[in-house]
Amino acid sequence: MMGLLELEKLTKEYQRGGRYFNAVNHVSLTVEPGDFISIIGRSGSGKTTLLNMSAGLLRPTEGTVLFEGNDIHRLKDKELSFLRNEKIGYVPQGQSLLSNFTVFDNVCIPWSLFRREGDVEGRVFILLEKVGISHLADSYPKELSGGEMRRAAIARSLINEPQLLIADEPTGDLDVETTAEIMRLFSRIAQEGTAVLIVTHELDTLDYGNKTYSMDAGKLLPHTA
Ligand SMILES: Nc1ncnc2c1ncn2[C@@H]1O[C@H](COP(=O)(O)OP(=O)(O)OP(=O)(O)O)[C@@H](O)[C@H]1O
Ligand SMILES: [Mg+2]
Repeated sequence: MMGLLELEKLTKEYQRGGRYFNAVNHVSLTVEPGDFISIIGRSGSGKTTLLNMSAGLLRPTEGTVLFEGNDIHRLKDKELSFLRNEKIGYVPQGQSLLSNFTVFDNVCIPWSLFRREGDVEGRVFILLEKVGISHLADSYPKELSGGEMRRAAIARSLINEPQLLIADEPTGDLDVETTAEIMRLFSRIAQEGTAVLIVTHELDTLDYGNKTYSMDAGKLLPHTA
């Protein structure tokens, strides 16, 4: 069976101070529908670089990213934008909400980018409810805590019912209890058939995934406890 997402020898070379190095070094990984994959690794090990290439946001130096069998880095800009908008939910590392938009409008953005029909308002509220911030729908990002902004970004990533959810340290600013809630939410999403791929610093979030890897100096290895 073909995976939903297949990374083949994915590599990103960077140059700094006249020295070349592989931030991501020949990484291969298959993600199936319903998988919940966690990647743990130290700061600077290449996690964000790997996710950005997997989501089509960053072009690899070498290797391929196949989504449903298509090499996404060979798509035209518009085709790639559409595929990303339609099929891939992305929660970036750090604050990513638009400051002039309310939480409600931020969550709507991916839905509004392409013409769509249906009850988006109802869906936004269901998602805000799921992440526990429906009372903040009309608030602006600057009125939110770091964890509340993170939860809004998670709701936004789910608005188009993606087949693949990619999240870069989604529980970075969250307390233990909220972290557990978010991880359980991701488990449910995976059980409903969406593939979930997250990177994390925290060991305690690893319990939720069905496959765990660690990243070390650009190399991806199965994680052993
Ligand atoms: N545009 C760039 N040019 C040069 N080097 C870069 C660039 N972007 C990232 N790097 C380097 O590549 C390596 C991997 O960075 P990356 O952001 O993927 O790490 P990370 O594992 O996500 O770290 P963190 O846990 O701190 O978020 C780091 O050494 C970083 O300094
Ligand atoms: Mg990172």
